[in-house]
Amino acid sequence: MKRPHVLASAAVSIDGFLDDASPQRLVLSGPADLDRVDAERASVDAILVGAGTVRADDPRLLVRSPDRRADRVERGLGPSPLRVVLSSQAVDPGARVLTEGRDVADTVVLAGTPHEVLDHLAGHGVVRLMVEGGAGVHREFLGAGVVDELQLAVAPRLVGDGPRFTGAPDEAHLVEARTVGPDVLLRYRFGDADARWLGEACSLAERCPPSPSAFSVGCVVVAADGTVLATGHSRRDDVLDHAEEVALRDVDRADPRLPGATIYTSLEPCGQRASRPVTCAQHILDAGIGRVVMAWREPPLFVGTPSGAARLEAAGVEVVECPGFEDLARRPNRHR
Ligand SMILES: NC(=O)c1ccc[n+]([C@@H]2O[C@H](COP(=O)([O-])OP(=O)(O)OC[C@H]3O[C@@H](n4cnc5c(N)ncnc54)[C@H](OP(=O)(O)O)[C@@H]3O)[C@@H](O)[C@H]2O)c1
Ligand SMILES: [Zn+2]
Repeated sequence: MKRPHVLASAAVSIDGFLDDASPQRLVLSGPADLDRVDAERASVDAILVGAGTVRADDPRLLVRSPDRRADRVERGLGPSPLRVVLSSQAVDPGARVLTEGRDVADTVVLAGTPHEVLDHLAGHGVVRLMVEGGAGVHREFLGAGVVDELQLAVAPRLVGDGPRFTGAPDEAHLVEARTVGPDVLLRYRFGDADARWLGEACSLAERCPPSPSAFSVGCVVVAADGTVLATGHSRRDDVLDHAEEVALRDVDRADPRLPGATIYTSLEPCGQRASRPVTCAQHILDAGIGRVVMAWREPPLFVGTPSGAARLEAAGVEVVECPGFEDLARRPNRHR
């Protein structure tokens, strides 16, 4: 069984603290970032924290937004993800993670190494896991090399003393840096280049507006030197949009980096479509991109016609199907 994709998320002060030394809970990031984290929570199958965080902050670990809960239900999921507490002992039965929100999410208490915990969760159908801390759990998961993506919100605060954000991960690769209200969101990926970018494409698929009938796909176009040239996801600008089509809409067709670039996509590019005249395979050929890495092959819709991958290969494009990503790519398509 493939271990879950692990998204570690934390808010830190400029000087790298997760909290101050006082007993009260310190909320570091602003309302806009808390809402962004809520959207990430809604995109995963389970949220994990250590018992230290339950003792210090007593969080509920629920999706707050009613719209996001409703979207999850529409996608055949529970309103809020499974809640996982790591502890070697019994958790205080009065903790809010156990007493609140039981109608929208279950809570489990687990112990074990990060690998054992991830294997256990995979066995329970968890494909995407969000690790929300605290200091000990982040250090343990980063140190074990099991984190695929790290989202760090840096708040404009100098705390001076308290639990620190630390770990000994592999080299982190920055995929996004942007302001969210007064905070700065830094998104990093770990792992080898193809896995890193395909993971990014699968994360982008989680941003697709829900659709009862169309696929939710994400893609990223990356130059040979690792520069992101464009990203896309299904229905980004219009209800008929395909992910590859919107990404390629954003690239300059004269860019000399395109022949050496790779397009990473969570689903095989379409080779037949009814919604618009130009297929994504054709868009890729028109852009002159030489390499396609995909997570999941499209179930055949039109028997007897060449698939997108076959069309691309026939035109000399290298097509790679990256093993181990199918569950992640299928996740936003669960209702299908
Ligand atoms: N800024 C942020 O984003 C953020 C987010 C979360 C938390 N925090 C802060 O982080 C601080 C808490 O961090 P922390 O390091 O004290 O606690 P923690 O990392 O939340 O939890 C550590 C505890 O988790 C349990 N644990 C960890 N790994 C385990 C494993 N593999 N198997 C079984 N149990 C395991 C142990 O609990 P037992 O002792 O029960 O065995 C351990 O003592 C608080 O100050 C909180 O405010 C900040
Ligand atoms: Zn398409």
